[in-house]
Amino acid sequence: MTKYILFLLVFLYTSCNLTQKKAAEVIISMENRGLIADSGMVVSAHPEASKIGVAILRKGGNAVDASIAVSFALAVCYPSAGNIGGGGFAVVRMSSGEISTLDYREKAPKSASRDMFLDSKGNVINDLSVYSYKASGVPGSVDGIITLYEKYGSLPFSELIQPAINLALKGFKITKNQAEDFNSLQIEFQKSNPDGCAFLKSSAWQEGDLLIQEDLAKTLERIRDFGRAGFYEGETAKMIENEMLRKNGLISIDDLKKYKSLWRKPIQGNYKGYKIISMAPPSSGGIALLQLLNSVENQDFGSFHSSQHIHLFAEAERRVYADRASYLGDSDFFPVPISQLIDKKYNTERMKTFNLDKATSSKEIKEGEISMHESEETTHFSIVDKWKNAVSITTTLNLSYGSRIVVKGAGFLLNNEMDDFSIKPGYPNAYGLIGGEANAIEPYKRMLSSMTPTIVLKNDSLFFVVGSPGGSTIITSVFQVITNVTDFQMTALQAVEASRFHHQWLPDEIFYEKNGLDSLVIIGLTKKGHFLKQRAPIGRVEAILVLPNGKLEGAADPRGDDNAQGF
Ligand code: GLY
Repeated sequence: MTKYILFLLVFLYTSCNLTQKKAAEVIISMENRGLIADSGMVVSAHPEASKIGVAILRKGGNAVDASIAVSFALAVCYPSAGNIGGGGFAVVRMSSGEISTLDYREKAPKSASRDMFLDSKGNVINDLSVYSYKASGVPGSVDGIITLYEKYGSLPFSELIQPAINLALKGFKITKNQAEDFNSLQIEFQKSNPDGCAFLKSSAWQEGDLLIQEDLAKTLERIRDFGRAGFYEGETAKMIENEMLRKNGLISIDDLKKYKSLWRKPIQGNYKGYKIISMAPPSSGGIALLQLLNSVENQDFGSFHSSQHIHLFAEAERRVYADRASYLGDSDFFPVPISQLIDKKYNTERMKTFNLDKATSSKEIKEGEISMHESEETTHFSIVDKWKNAVSITTTLNLSYGSRIVVKGAGFLLNNEMDDFSIKPGYPNAYGLIGGEANAIEPYKRMLSSMTPTIVLKNDSLFFVVGSPGGSTIITSVFQVITNVTDFQMTALQAVEASRFHHQWLPDEIFYEKNGLDSLVIIGLTKKGHFLKQRAPIGRVEAILVLPNGKLEGAADPRGDDNAQGF
């Protein structure tokens, strides 16, 4: 029987395309690893996007070329978070050692104002910052993708975007999860798009139905033919403006024309001999990740998922998220004390009140002394090419399907990223995160993000490429998966599959995945004074580990339709 199964697996492996699932079956049965590849790897949230990315690598494209093809493909086949109407961050490390981090986060439109989501009494107007025309920031994705291409692209741009155009025109078979998503959102899509959109259907969606997006294909063709101007000017810009004019939206043609992505100074630091490279503000991700790693570096973790391990991590997270609420925002508008926050001594000092036996109440935790829900949709992908160039990109519309408004005639969804600003001091956003002055709304300002696209080096060589969606849980997901590999010696697949937990200062609770923790550990944590709450899956991590023999291990998160492909 065992021989028969092995034969079947080998047969599947050799006779079909190298998809993650099939290859993983072969590999896991022997090594408990993800997909192993020699020359290139793409791990993304959707099999169609991973397939397109790997085809670009096979053609001789580099990791950035593949990232461009994957970005556009995800906008078609993973509309809940893949996008051209949102924004993101890219962390790139070329095999030469050159490191670049690109910020293509959305910006507040010029006519945005601090209290735009409050009524005359200063109360937050229900849903205005999430499901309305005012919820959208000026999209950055198209400018970001083109800026990446201009710096590192090697194949013709048209060859990188064409697979996404074909996918939109010919359609692709939706997954079971997508069919369920579309069915559950029919009323919302109808309400937001009274003239119709591609996600509306008179009968129920079924797994395997074709999703064809002709308007989106035309927009992608305009981007192919006119570059930036195909989105930020001309027909597409006019369609966005028309959409805004229908219901008092704020994004103007001038806002679109002025949008520019920015190369930021990477956030870098060391953790137990590994070098961590991640994203600077307006993402909080890089700073918070380094703060967390610094906070636990000299502490004893105990065994994996013991109450000692979870208590230590939760206490570090409590302190770091308190800092995030006060000090993090768009550094072009607010003086974020970056070097002080990621300083090892500062974080060691913050952990001085850590008690091995007792939870600290979040009421007792304030930001450190420095001189001076809901579905969490975002998507991450990791790519490594045959030269060991690496790209780590996280991109988002904010919540699942963003504002749910599809630009009429242009076929793409608008983000609802304005909710990532602190719309009122101390008022929690959709992820329960609070903020203040540092992240208050101002015209042209970028809203604070938690996206944490990260690259880890070992002995100055590429070691791990990682990132996740998940709103406020992005940072803690990346933190745990990195330490699963560096401290608990897990394979990439084990590190990604392992259950996760999360603390974000407020609310004062440790969230954990269903059946994710041992009941004795839960009792132990409760005895220390923690409050615990079970919740839906936390994060969806896509990771690539470089093995000592130079091969790549791709690990796609089993929490979704995620998929690794390599060759
Ligand atoms: N919209 C989620 C984030 O940027 O953190």
